[in-house]
Amino acid sequence: MSSSGVASDTLVRKLSRSTLRELSDFLDPQDAWKSVLVDIKKDTGEPRYTQLHVRRFERLVAQGKSPTVELLYDWGTTNCTVGELVEILIKHKLFAPARVLLPDITTAPVETYWRSVEDPPTQYHQEQTQVCAVKLNQAKLKEESPCMLPDSTTGPEESQEPPEDGFYSFTYRELTQITGNWDERPASIGGNRLGEGGFGIVFKGQHNIKPVAVKKLNLVDDLSPEELKSQFRQEIQTLKRLKHVNLVNMVGFSSDGHYPCVVYVYMSNGSLFDRLACLDGSCPLSWQLRCGITVGTARGLEYLHHHNHIHRDVKSGNILLDESFVPKISDFGLTRASSKHSCTTVITERIVGTTAYMAPEALRGEITPKSDVFSFGVVLLEIVSGLPPVDENRDPKLLMEMKDEIEDEEMTLEEFIDKKMLDWDLESVERIYNLASQCLSERKNRRPLMKEVLAELEGS
Ligand SMILES: Nc1ncnc2c1ncn2[C@@H]1O[C@H](COP(=O)(O)OP(=O)(O)OP(=O)(O)O)[C@@H](O)[C@H]1O
Ligand SMILES: [Mg+2]
Repeated sequence: MSSSGVASDTLVRKLSRSTLRELSDFLDPQDAWKSVLVDIKKDTGEPRYTQLHVRRFERLVAQGKSPTVELLYDWGTTNCTVGELVEILIKHKLFAPARVLLPDITTAPVETYWRSVEDPPTQYHQEQTQVCAVKLNQAKLKEESPCMLPDSTTGPEESQEPPEDGFYSFTYRELTQITGNWDERPASIGGNRLGEGGFGIVFKGQHNIKPVAVKKLNLVDDLSPEELKSQFRQEIQTLKRLKHVNLVNMVGFSSDGHYPCVVYVYMSNGSLFDRLACLDGSCPLSWQLRCGITVGTARGLEYLHHHNHIHRDVKSGNILLDESFVPKISDFGLTRASSKHSCTTVITERIVGTTAYMAPEALRGEITPKSDVFSFGVVLLEIVSGLPPVDENRDPKLLMEMKDEIEDEEMTLEEFIDKKMLDWDLESVERIYNLASQCLSERKNRRPLMKEVLAELEGS
């Protein structure tokens, strides 16, 4: 029996929420849950789930729910056991989630050939366990995936073969090529520029036929090149370590050029900030989608906090949306990993963050996970109201101050709601607003923990 009290004969429906969440961290990305689903059988031996069921589970993703958790809830009603689940996981070489349940499972070590041609970082549910990957015949792989071969115009040092750990080490020259020579014209008019933030400009590029976003980092004035390199290396380690379905995946990086660069998976629906503002004529987000975005974002933040990492720049501009509007938090590694003692308060001289989102203590230089909770409260207000976090021509300028207006009954919640959405209902809007209000408590000790925020959102 494992330390969490789980054994082979434990019923799946008795698994704790945190165990289910751990499993979903492995099985939600890249739809690994589907491999489990196809092997679930009825007593008669027929498959329990049809394509219709699969589609129903898929739709839950857009609502911010975890298909793995929903699948296990559903299957759990049949009194199936952990042993049966582990058997299916092992069959699909999903050893890491199998070990979440039964840590003592042993498998013969096999040398890892880590990747297929698919999107590398999100393959981690299979790859994270070093013992499971099947060694592929390299010659065959090359034959079947010509796009992985180095460009004939590049030298051997520019090979795009992924290294052992699954992240591409690009050369600056390669990135120059894939971003059209750092074409700064907006991507919307045929250039490559996606946007610009505090760290530098973000360019769209093409890598192995997939679009990527390349962030070219600014040189920081007060850091020497050595300090910059060392900080960059540290940040890359953080990006490699933190993987979750609600975090933007890193594809690779480059550190050989004048500018360090990070390459991310491209998020086709841009940032939550832009979609709330309906930039470039995009349709307003429905209330249902917004609810999904709140849950997914809270999951990503809870994961970061659980791994002793404070984001320090939570804002709608750092919540990116993929093609299914699944929210992905970005820039979590670049604001510097907090130390091992990150759950206590650390004082820094370098204030990081965007003031319209910042908690009072964060403005004073304190670093605590509770400041992320505050900033998330501002994001919740943006989601409910569709208003920007700061507007120089508005009274009050700061969105967070509108909370006081509502509390003082100078404005009603109904007046505050974004009229661009049609499917809202007052009860659920009130629930999210009340949660925002708790997150925005001036005193950090009065704010909920991220896991409490998540529990509240998952319950709604
Ligand atoms: N992975 C990505 N996929 C698609 N677009 C992206 C991606 N990463 C960034 N962008 C776009 O580039 C813009 C700028 O991003 P960037 O992170 O540099 O700035 P920011 O989020 O506005 O500010 P900050 O520097 O505080 O994070 C984003 O608003 C988004 O529109
Ligand atoms: Mg950003």
